[in-house]
Formats: sequence, C-alpha cells, structure tokens
Amino acid sequence: MAVKVRVPATTANLGPGFDSLGMALQLYNEIELELIDQGLQFEVTGVGADMIPATSENVIYKAVQCVFDQLGRRRPGLRLRLHNAVPVTRGLGSSAAAIVGGLVAANEVCHRPLSSDHLLELAVRMEGHPDNVAAALLGGIVVSGRVGGKTRHVKLPVPRDLVCVVVVPEVPLPTKESRKVLPGSVPFEDAVHNVNRVALLLGALATGDLELVGAAMEDVLHEPYRMSLIPGMSRAAEAGRESGALGVVLSGSGPTLIAFCREGTESPVGPAIARAWSEAGLKASWMVLRPDLRGVTVTGVPHLEPMGPPAR
Ligand code: HSE
Repeated sequence: MAVKVRVPATTANLGPGFDSLGMALQLYNEIELELIDQGLQFEVTGVGADMIPATSENVIYKAVQCVFDQLGRRRPGLRLRLHNAVPVTRGLGSSAAAIVGGLVAANEVCHRPLSSDHLLELAVRMEGHPDNVAAALLGGIVVSGRVGGKTRHVKLPVPRDLVCVVVVPEVPLPTKESRKVLPGSVPFEDAVHNVNRVALLLGALATGDLELVGAAMEDVLHEPYRMSLIPGMSRAAEAGRESGALGVVLSGSGPTLIAFCREGTESPVGPAIARAWSEAGLKASWMVLRPDLRGVTVTGVPHLEPMGPPAR
C-alpha cells in the first residue's frame, strides 16, 4: 500500500501572535510513502535536498513511526520519497511540513484510524508549539493553543485579496537558535502591547479589514530580540512597507521576512526588501505566495485511484 500527500509551507506568529497564529501558504512538499518488509529506502529531491537527512533521523520517518507506535503496531519498513519545495530552516515551517506530512501519510496507509485532532496532538508533541503544525494540517489562518492539556484551534477567515511576498535569505537560522535569544520575562507594557495588537489583528481578520491586518502586525515580544541574529532586518522590513506592503514581519522564527499585500500591489515589494538586505550584505530571493486554504491533502495512491482528504 502506498500513498502520496501534499503539505503546505506555513508562516507562524503573523507578527504579534507568538506561538499562537499560523497561516498556510501555496508552496508544497510532496511525500510518497510505501510500506515494505523491512529497512528504509529514502529518496530526497528538490530545494535544500542536501540539508535533509535520508536516514532514520529524518523527521518524516520519525512522524511515520510515531503513528505506528500510537496504534501499537510493529514499526514497518518504509520506502519514502520527498520532493521538497519549502526552504529548510528559513522560518517557513519545513519541520511542521515534515511532521504533518509524515503523520498524515502514515495514518492514510493505515486506513485513517486517527482523527485530525489526534494527529494535531501528535504533531504538537513533536514540534513543541502548535502554530505551524495546526496551519499545515488545517490550512488557512489558524489560531491555536494548549488549554487544559488539549490543543484548541479555530480557523479564521482569510481576506480574499491577501497576497504574501516571502523574502528568504541565503543563510539558515534554526528555530532552536532563534528561540535562545528570547528573554525569560518582558516588561508589562510590552505584554499589553502584544495583547492589543493580537486583538486588533483578530478583529481585522473577522471583518476582512486588510489595512488593519497590516497595521496590527506590530510585535515587541520576539522580533526585537531576534533582530540581533539577522543583519539589516529592520531596514529590509521598512523598505517592504515603503514599497507598498501593508505589514512586514518575521516569518516564524526567521530569518525570512513575509510581507502582507493587497492583491495587485505586491510586485515592487520582493525586490525592495531584497535590495535593502543586499545593502546590509545579505543575499535573499523572493516568492509571491497566496494563502493555502486546504492544508495537507492526500493527493493520490500511486498507480491507483486518487483518494479524498484525510478525516477531519
Ligand atoms: N512560534 C515559533 C517561534 C515558530 O517563533 O519560535 C517557529 O517556527
């Protein structure tokens, strides 16, 4: 039995919503999984293939085994194929894509014994925070958090004319490193500032006020600290806003910047941010991406009829 899944890139935080907000983007990794008698055969192609281990250390492999452990089934041999499009360790949810893709593919080969909520719990346990994995699993913009030992989540409306520009520096920045610079505590007024901006952001999403979505994206809890790891970040974000973006924030833990634009105004934004970064000595490339609304999908069973999306 073999399956194919397609899993989106994600951007976490959306500015002030640290570890709470995430959005899926129309950029996809494709994973094929087939159960074999024993061992691991793994083929990796695509962006950053040389950075992705094709061994039992691979996160997709671990996620697949996690499902078999959860079901109390013997760990099988695996044939895995990954075609990777999501840049690795750049703040676009590459590890969340690996976790969610592996969990959903394994659940599918086992005929979907685990619910979407159960898969989300496993994904959060593997990733450590819910924002990227919830968006990769469910698609769209998702607010999520742990409440009373359970992961709660709500899908929020995605403004119709929202287009994003992601500007990806050449240099990787692992989330682990980017979390190390965060302080143990913050001033009360900074906490109040972020509470206010998240509240405004949720209100703006609920009413489809795209201008306010951008204006509400001011963060003081993580970006000021992470800036020290990313040369020229502040100036690059400013250049993006000057060129017409409604808001420019760090994508997840960075170093990628994501600019939120009204459809039709996005063309000058990527070049402006990349130019400002190159003046600070950092090479970067950009992509224009729309929000993904579906999350992970099972795109087919190789050589058999296509199947529907996983149980929700
Ligand atoms: N919320 C997480 C962080 C996202 O900012 O560290 C990591 O991708």
